[in-house]
Amino acid sequence: MDTEVKNLIVEKVKTSRISQVDFDHLPFGAYFTDHMFVCDYKNGAWETPKIIPYQPLQMEPSSRVFHYGQAVFEGMKAYRDDQGGVWLFRPEENFKRINKSSVRLAMPEFPEEYFFEGLKKLLQLDEKWIKPGLGNSLYIRPFVIATQAGIIASPSEEFKFIIICSPAQSYYGGEVRVKIAEKFSRAADGGFGFTKAAGNYAGQFYPTNLAKEEGFQQVVWTDANTHEYIEEAGTMNIFIRLDNKLITCPTGDRILDGITRKSIIELAKDLGIEVEIRPIKVSELVEGIKNKTLKEMFGSGTAAVINPILGFGYKGDRFELPKVEKSYATILKQHLLDIQYNKAEDKFGWRYRVQ
Ligand code: COI
Repeated sequence: MDTEVKNLIVEKVKTSRISQVDFDHLPFGAYFTDHMFVCDYKNGAWETPKIIPYQPLQMEPSSRVFHYGQAVFEGMKAYRDDQGGVWLFRPEENFKRINKSSVRLAMPEFPEEYFFEGLKKLLQLDEKWIKPGLGNSLYIRPFVIATQAGIIASPSEEFKFIIICSPAQSYYGGEVRVKIAEKFSRAADGGFGFTKAAGNYAGQFYPTNLAKEEGFQQVVWTDANTHEYIEEAGTMNIFIRLDNKLITCPTGDRILDGITRKSIIELAKDLGIEVEIRPIKVSELVEGIKNKTLKEMFGSGTAAVINPILGFGYKGDRFELPKVEKSYATILKQHLLDIQYNKAEDKFGWRYRVQ
């Protein structure tokens, strides 16, 4: 039966699908919870949002999203603590970023109260899908798509804002080695590399497939002009450790302003680790392997959390990172997870209680 909660319409499922899911073996993003949040934009305004059973969308084949890729998304996680509480991590950052992405893609911004009210209600309804235990989480995928019919190449005037949720464990199952991009590029100055636009990801699939054929799991993108500076890995921002200094490149037009990235910078500083934010030359990585100053490389992201990079390929050569005791990746990941799972004091005010 449909019920109205403030300005949110809720239609619950009759039977949950949760018993069909093996929570001990979860491929990333393969299963979705019982409900989804949907809000339509028409005639210049967002309509009343709804939570409905997870289901296929009915759309015109001529909808703009299919032809011009007018689509943006976010990635967030909900965590369950040992006392049964449910938490989000810096959700206001995701909210700000999806609107920033939308503006760049000529899409309307989404109202804050709809986002938070919808998300909280959705998590409340599907709370059984949020399993306890470090490493278990519910990956939350808000996204916006252009739904207006008609294939004229101009911005849509109709959109859907949707949130779906998927129980998650790790993003990268095994070891991660990366190929440093020498030919292909992900983003350019003045472009939209800083957004979570769908096309930013589609454009990486082909070069990443080529890298996979060579035995790498990911591409680390370099600047489009010279290919001399590393930028980001597409699903992760990149950190390197030279001796005891943690270095990451500045964000800007071309690089996603990762929430995990900026949290790591603050955490590392707080732990007394020297942090430098500056452009990183590929040659520094190669030199660092040769003179043994490159101690670590890791990627950071909501889905990946902190993922050590064990080696990289560049100009036909392969380089392996040393094995380090008490790696920064391990220490920082532990601190981050302790905050996310409500196991440690949250002096930064990053946790957001859902229930
Ligand atoms: C995330 O970390 O949430 C991302 O958006 C990366 C994604 C493509 C899995």
